[in-house]
Amino acid sequence: MEYNFKYLNRKKTDSIKWKIAQNLCDSEDCFDFSIADSDYETAPEIKKAMIERITHGAFGYISIGDDYKKILIDFYNKHYGLNISENQIIPIPRVMNGISVILDLFLEKKDSVIIQTPVYPAFRHVIEANGLLCITNELIELEDTYEMNYLDLEDKFKNRIKTLIICNPHNPVGRVWRYKELEKLINLAKKYDVLIISDEIHADIIMPGYEFVSLANFFSEYQNIIILNAPSKTFNLAGLQLANLLTPKEYLLKKITFEYERLHLSTPNLMALVAMEAAYKQGRKWLLAQREHVYGNYLLLKSKLEDFKLKVFKLEGTYLVWIKIEFDNIDSTILYELLMKSRVIVSDGKKFESNGSFIRFNLACSREQLQVGLNIIIDCLKKIKTTEK
Ligand SMILES: Cc1ncc(COP(=O)(O)O)c(C=O)c1O
Repeated sequence: MEYNFKYLNRKKTDSIKWKIAQNLCDSEDCFDFSIADSDYETAPEIKKAMIERITHGAFGYISIGDDYKKILIDFYNKHYGLNISENQIIPIPRVMNGISVILDLFLEKKDSVIIQTPVYPAFRHVIEANGLLCITNELIELEDTYEMNYLDLEDKFKNRIKTLIICNPHNPVGRVWRYKELEKLINLAKKYDVLIISDEIHADIIMPGYEFVSLANFFSEYQNIIILNAPSKTFNLAGLQLANLLTPKEYLLKKITFEYERLHLSTPNLMALVAMEAAYKQGRKWLLAQREHVYGNYLLLKSKLEDFKLKVFKLEGTYLVWIKIEFDNIDSTILYELLMKSRVIVSDGKKFESNGSFIRFNLACSREQLQVGLNIIIDCLKKIKTTEK
């Protein structure tokens, strides 16, 4: 089947992204490249499975069968070459809900949690909302990419900070952490007995030439790891709310399972199950086509914006590209506001605790939508004469 990633009008569909854009621009005629979901349809295989289930007409209580975990195990095996086992998996409603439950269960008030900035802002929010302290381990900025700062991280571990949240692939800097980098991290965590929470929600959006390495690769040598993964970003299913939590450590598994039972949240949403099954069993071709599409969008954006004083960072994974503003007098917030006046919404890098001036741009849109957005951005850049040396 040929897949296309055609523009889909999501205005008036309760999409949070488009509601915010319309409010910010005070107009329906706007273009949004901010919040991380996609502006084209999910895979046709998923849509078909959902339509068939809806046609059945009864949506009563369900019980997840053995199939559920087998589907996930097969997916991990085929996509990441890993053998996870059934008793390491807990279905949960959302990744951020999983992180919140973990922090609430295993940390004491005023404990500290490390995040690696710039990073997805909800990490800080969930840490602080749980009455904990958020400590930053800044990533090191290189020419057009980032790396982890292990020295600083070790200092923090030495100071008895026992919990770290990592993002792999990393939102917003687009890194897909290599095996060696993760191995180094695990060795440090082992030395200081640190709990690593690995947010792997973007695991399946990997650009050509890169390979995703899950922290599940290290389960047999280090147990103090919790992974959060979901089909939501990859297949545009975030509104259905289904994610998975994985850990090899029995103590963590038991307490988390009990907590989800206590909250009466241990059975996933019926339609989310149907979508996940179709995505993980039949979605591979669409997923590969999407990678090509997103990468094509990345190359187009890079070629158009690099004439101006904007540095487009390397994109290894995610559909979110990180862009540095390298012209004087205009920082990310000023540019964000100028673009907003021209009815284009991007994300201001400050929200991610960037060190310097950056914007994040969501590439999960049709080529046409990207082209229109880029034309507006370029007009805007020309007005502020960013090409002047
Ligand atoms: C790194 C990361 N984690 C988690 C989420 C949110 O996941 P969920 O909606 O499952 O809580 C996002 C959404 O943008 C994200 O980028």
